[in-house]
Amino acid sequence: MTEPSRVLALVGSPRVGGNTDILVDEVLRGAKEVGALVEKVYLDRCMIGPCHACNACEDTGVCFQRDDMDELLDRMKRSDVWVLATPVYWWGATAQFKQFLDRWYAPWHGAEPKEVFENRRIVVVVTLGDSSIATADPTLEMFRRALSYIGLDLVATVVAPGVYALGDASARTDLLQKARAAGRTAVAE
Ligand SMILES: Cc1cc2nc3c(=O)[nH]c(=O)nc-3n(C[C@H](O)[C@H](O)[C@H](O)COP(=O)(O)O)c2cc1C
Repeated sequence: MTEPSRVLALVGSPRVGGNTDILVDEVLRGAKEVGALVEKVYLDRCMIGPCHACNACEDTGVCFQRDDMDELLDRMKRSDVWVLATPVYWWGATAQFKQFLDRWYAPWHGAEPKEVFENRRIVVVVTLGDSSIATADPTLEMFRRALSYIGLDLVATVVAPGVYALGDASARTDLLQKARAAGRTAVAE
């Protein structure tokens, strides 16, 4: 019997039960429907220090900071699919998400082989208050370029404009369906 796929969601919104969280849950629901094991991490609840650009990782292979990023990198290594999720804050990702992303620097620059990044499939979820989807462009472009630079496989993108208040996304059937389909696709691929 083949092992079930493992899906790890990394949620960059500080709002539990917020729009990003709601759509991530739908991605995970879709993934579970096709047999995946799923887990979700709220980055806001993690202790993740910012990258200090000391470049110690180039010599040692690891970041000098001992914080929740160690455990997160282990969980990322054990997962086939990463769901990377953030609301748009000032045309970009939240500070919590960016801090997490910056800490990819050590496994990218330091470790050989770059095991954590091998054979992962990525689903991106971006939510925003503005009804214009163009407001998500800078954030989506960050994801596209960063993932392509690393060679990660972006298999689905869920963009949710026009969701502002806590829970707005739960009334958006179109977005919920899209998120669920993204979860199914990511596992089935
Ligand atoms: C600090 C902050 C900055 C924001 N900046 C933007 C923005 O630049 N463009 C936008 O469309 N919405 C912006 N928003 C609205 C959020 O993107 C929107 O409320 C989103 O649904 C929040 O997701 P959540 O419910 O998962 O927290 C901002 C919200 C906050 C709190």
